[in-house]
Amino acid sequence: MKRPICPKKEDSERPFLYLNLAMTADGKIATANRAVSSFSSRRDREHLLELRTTADAVMSGARTVDLNLVTLGPGPARFRRQRLRRGLAEYNLRIIVSGAGSIDPRAEVFKKRFSPIIILTTRRASAGRRERLRRLADEVKICGAREIDFRRALRWLRQKWGVKRLLCEGGGEVNDALFRAGVVDELHLTVCPRIFGGRTAPTIADGVGWRRLAQAAKLRLKSARREGDEMFFVYQADK
Ligand SMILES: NC(=O)c1ccc[n+]([C@@H]2O[C@H](COP(=O)([O-])OP(=O)(O)OC[C@H]3O[C@@H](n4cnc5c(N)ncnc54)[C@H](OP(=O)(O)O)[C@@H]3O)[C@@H](O)[C@H]2O)c1
Repeated sequence: MKRPICPKKEDSERPFLYLNLAMTADGKIATANRAVSSFSSRRDREHLLELRTTADAVMSGARTVDLNLVTLGPGPARFRRQRLRRGLAEYNLRIIVSGAGSIDPRAEVFKKRFSPIIILTTRRASAGRRERLRRLADEVKICGAREIDFRRALRWLRQKWGVKRLLCEGGGEVNDALFRAGVVDELHLTVCPRIFGGRTAPTIADGVGWRRLAQAAKLRLKSARREGDEMFFVYQADK
């Protein structure tokens, strides 16, 4: 059964931001040693590519990008055709978050030059690292002193690069910063029938988090669908 993916009404200042993650039944998005982070079904991997067909840009954190063979691209031709039918560019923009500029220059993403790569960084990145990033990416944007100021970064992405719909694919550290900045509009979460355990295994939102219930991000369940032993949830931010 195919689920329609409808672009949502967009705020004119910043892109509509949606997250997509696969999680084990014990709430982990990778094993504690980070060796395993791809554990969902073929259907879920297809779902990831379908979601990308609705995004102007796909974003991930430095560790998600350099620990995995990811390109953040649209995938096979049939997905690119869907993008064109939706009036989007054939290839989505790619955005990497790397506050200290620690992203590995040998990462797979830099080997595939099908669309611009934008790196969001901070003044924590040394001059040398910034220079190295400039040689790798199409644009390196400093968006904050120590942490990315995501409100500012998203407005800039909209104004400079025309990003109206931004899909973030983790990891937990970036997601937490996005939730804390109050810029997450939707969460697509696939719960997979596995238990990874491990107290240091990443979850969908790590980083700093909140201390009080009143501060926690609130969500509304928009849809829930079972396919085999997996559950596909879509939550909307309850702002
Ligand atoms: N199952 C899934 O759906 C899924 C999805 C995504 C990722 N994963 C897995 O999750 C793990 C990665 O997650 P992670 O949380 O460790 O890493 P991550 O969020 O992918 O990347 C962390 C890095 O991003 C930068 N960063 C994050 N937030 C920042 C902020 N607010 N300001 C400035 N820079 C920021 C920092 O780079 P610098 O060090 O350069 O400052 C930080 O070290 C990997 O094992 C990955 O495979 C699983």
